[in-house]
Amino acid sequence: MRIISLKTDLDQVISEYRKSGKRIGFVPTMGALHQGHVSLVEASRKQADVTVCSIFVNPTQFNDKNDLLRYPRTPEQDILMLEQAGCDVLFMPPVEEVYPVPDTRVFDFGYLDKILDGAARPGHFNGVGQVVSILFSMVKPDVAFFGQKDYQQVMIIRELVRQLNLPVEIVPCPILREPDGLAMSSRNTLLSAEERKVAAHVPEFMQKAAQIYHEQDIDQARSYIQEAVSSQALMRLDYYMICDRNTLREIEHKNQPAISLIAVFVGKIRLIDNLFLD
Ligand code: PAF
Repeated sequence: MRIISLKTDLDQVISEYRKSGKRIGFVPTMGALHQGHVSLVEASRKQADVTVCSIFVNPTQFNDKNDLLRYPRTPEQDILMLEQAGCDVLFMPPVEEVYPVPDTRVFDFGYLDKILDGAARPGHFNGVGQVVSILFSMVKPDVAFFGQKDYQQVMIIRELVRQLNLPVEIVPCPILREPDGLAMSSRNTLLSAEERKVAAHVPEFMQKAAQIYHEQDIDQARSYIQEAVSSQALMRLDYYMICDRNTLREIEHKNQPAISLIAVFVGKIRLIDNLFLD
């Protein structure tokens, strides 16, 4: 695996790949990698000739500076994991390579970034749009892979690609879960042992709420989540919504394709998860 930190070096490698007609798969990450990221690399290896990963903790998508400061960083371990997963190129740029000058672009994602994480973390998706468009312009991927735990992010990136008319296919990949059901996330490593136990209730509550949704209705599912979360001293609900999974608008009829999406704080750590309600 080649490890590159400068854009000029990356340009050279990418132009060689393009000249030889290789299909480039791209897995952008913020590091602190887990099996979920490995599954993205595996998906890329199946669908592309070469796989490029990036590790870049993007400052512009953190609306909370403390969140940025405490974001986990495990570069040595990440390099080993990517090496073993069969990644071909790892791009680990410093901030100045990605943002030689501040990015002042403001995207208009319309309704998509006014709800859920867009409402809870103002400016977050604009920062994601900035960094993903910059990384796409550097890596020039044919296909890029994103985890579906960040369901809204995948929709935002599809919208970004549509608005900028970028020639890249976006492939969402399934959520990977720990044995107790907790969705894999880099942030899980920030939980204390006690918080980690409590966090396992998140998927459990979501499953139960899904059952209530099917047997009763949205309001009952929502009330259940509110009560279940507030019964846990270490948990605080940020949002729980049942949306149409094509539009992310709140569901109106039970015959719409539905997804439930949750954000909770466990201690100081904010976790998100989602579940298709089929
Ligand atoms: O999902 C992430 O890890 C980040 O939001 C991404 C897509 C790498 C952009 O910084």
